[in-house]
Order: sequence, then C-alpha cells, then structure tokens
Amino acid sequence: MIGQTQYFRDTWAEIDLDALYQNVKTIRDGLPRETKLFAAVKANAYGHGDFQIAKEALKAGAHGLVVALLDEALALREKGIKAPILVLGLIRPTDASIAARYQISVPVFQMEWLKEASLTMESGNPPLRIHIKCDTGMGRIGLKHEKELKEIEQFIKETDKFEFEGIFTHFSTADQASEKYYQMQLAAFKQLVSVLDTAPKYVHAANSAGALCHCDSLFNAVRVGIALYGLSTSTERPPLNKVKQVFSLHTKIVHVKKIQSGECIGYGASYKAQTEEWIATIPIGYADGWLRKMEKQRVIADGEQANIVGRICMDQTMVKLPHFMPIGTKVTLIGGQADDFISVEEIAEKLDTINYEVVCTINFRVPRIYKRGDQLVEIENKLFLGI
Ligand SMILES: Cc1ncc(COP(=O)(O)O)c(C=O)c1O
Repeated sequence: MIGQTQYFRDTWAEIDLDALYQNVKTIRDGLPRETKLFAAVKANAYGHGDFQIAKEALKAGAHGLVVALLDEALALREKGIKAPILVLGLIRPTDASIAARYQISVPVFQMEWLKEASLTMESGNPPLRIHIKCDTGMGRIGLKHEKELKEIEQFIKETDKFEFEGIFTHFSTADQASEKYYQMQLAAFKQLVSVLDTAPKYVHAANSAGALCHCDSLFNAVRVGIALYGLSTSTERPPLNKVKQVFSLHTKIVHVKKIQSGECIGYGASYKAQTEEWIATIPIGYADGWLRKMEKQRVIADGEQANIVGRICMDQTMVKLPHFMPIGTKVTLIGGQADDFISVEEIAEKLDTINYEVVCTINFRVPRIYKRGDQLVEIENKLFLGI
C-alpha cells in the first residue's frame, strides 16, 4: 500500500452505516415479529457495497439476504457471510452443485430445470434449497399454473437432492397508488400457496413498497431493498420520513479560474459566460456514472449553491461558483446537510429515471467510504487494491 490513502482522486461516495443500521431497525420493528426481513443487496447493494451493507443489515436485525446472481451470493459466502442467501434470478442447472455446497437458495419454476439439475448434481453436498417462483403478473420469471406447481412440489419431495424451502412471487405495482393489479397478483399468489401439500419455511412476496404499504402482503418474510437505503419506493408514494438516505457523493475542486464575458466552457462550447465568472473543475464525469444529462444540475460547494456549466466530460465537470473558492474545496453532488440537501430523488428527476438507477449507476470507479458518524470505518476502492 502506498502511504495512508487508498484512493488517489478526490471523488468518493460516502455510505452512512449509522443511517443504514437505523433504517433496517426501523423497518424491522415495523413488521410483525414472525415476519423475517431479507435485505436486498443485489447489484452491490444498489451501489452501496454488498459486503459492508450485508454485515450492517444483519447486525441490525435482517434475517437473510437476497441477491440477483449466483456470483453475488458466492462472493458474500467467500467473505464469510453465513446468513441465508436467496438468489432471485435463474441459475444454470449445471451450477446447482455449487449453490448446494455453499448453502445458497435458488429459485425454480421449471420441471426441466429440476431434472437437469438432479442429473448433474454431485453427491456429498447438502440438499439444494429451493424457492418456487410464481409469476402472478410480473411476466418475468416464474410458473403460473397450479398443475406445474404441484408437479414441482412432488418432484422435490421425491428426492433428497432438494429441500423445498420457500415459495415466492414479485409484485409489479405495489408502489403505485392504484390497488387493482396488486390485489389481483396477491389473490393469484394466495391461490397457488393454498394448493401446496405442505407450506415451506418461507412464503414471501413483498418488496419495500409491499412491506411498507400493504400489510396483507407480508406472509412470513419480505424482501426489502430500496427503503433500507433510505430512498422512496416511488413518486406515487409519500417520501419515507422514518428512514434516512445512506448514500452521498462528493468531490473536491482541482482547478479554479476567472473567465470573461463571452468565453466558453466544455465540449461543443455549449456554455458562454455572460459576465466575469469563477469556474471550477471537479474530477468526476460520465465514466463514473455522473451522466451527461446532469448538465446545469445544482451542486453544493462549501455549503453554497453552484451550478454545473457546459457538458459533462468523461472524467471532469465544470461548475460556476458564486465567488472564488480555493482548490480542495469540497463539492457535494448528492447528499449534504439538512437545509442544503440534494436527494437521490432530485437526481433521478433530472435524469428522468428512478432513484434505483441513480445509485446503481455511480460505478466502482468511485471509491466507497464507510462512516459511522464522523468516524471512518473502511475505504473500498475496487479500482486499486493496493501495491
Ligand atoms: C424479486 C425482487 N424482490 C425484491 C426486490 C427488492 O425491491 P425493492 O428495492 O423495491 O424493495 C427486488 C428488486 O428489484 C426484486 O427484483
């Protein structure tokens, strides 16, 4: 390692572990005691860093974790996470052995998958934990009919290679104000569950919006993602006032200059100064996930409002300052103090997208700094692991 620092560009995302802990606890405390909370840490915990978030969420009362990919689950096991982990996406039947070996639960909804997996599975592993996935209206993956469900249940029962651990579905409109489609999916799921010979250990349907807005969707487990990170479930639902945004994004000024009226900034010379202006350059760009649509977005420079001018470059962005500020001045792009706070939702609106996409888009060229209060806990720089 060179010196003390583990990253060499002053651009970083700060992850507030206290906020994450408190959010998980608040959501956990709002659920019935028997309802298990699975924290969704897929996609690197929505850009926050899966290992650190998994550890904190489990400490705060999460029972288990859900991820999208077997690779994500294996990476967490490798790092020592022992809690239940469910992969939400379909894995290859030829990978069933490795999932079984690492006690990772997987979704199943096709007989052909089960047959192929049972043919290729090595002996000597614990049984593969299966959650039957039902498609009740999302139209993504899952079985739809009682007959298929019964066949799969029967097949699992007849072999010691598998354990029927769970059944689940996913709502496509739980975050919307209108209830109709949600109620249809809920009824379809209840119907499928009712034809099982034996209910498995986990029956689950709710995501954040389900868990927070539909108490009839809880069954005995929920899979919560976005709300853990202190972000709202949709623009149709009121902001979640009991949780706090975990993610913030910062950088520092690397260059400051005064320009004259008529001088231009950036590619395409798209910004022309109207008067004498102070322009700062900050080292973040679209290659970090700070996308070109962020042109004209406000930022907070040393506690004061400033605006991005000119096009966002691949690695750098220019900001018009209210007055001179020295090199090294901190600039906040997401987050900040209460009265000068840039929410992930504000950025999502600017990008014409949802808050989920914003945090997932700030990629791992930007190191994650984990903090408790003002205390630095850990730095994760996936670009440079040390010399
Ligand atoms: C199957 C499934 N369950 C749970 C979640 C968590 O959803 P949310 O982040 O809205 O809580 C997701 C997220 O996309 C998902 O795909």
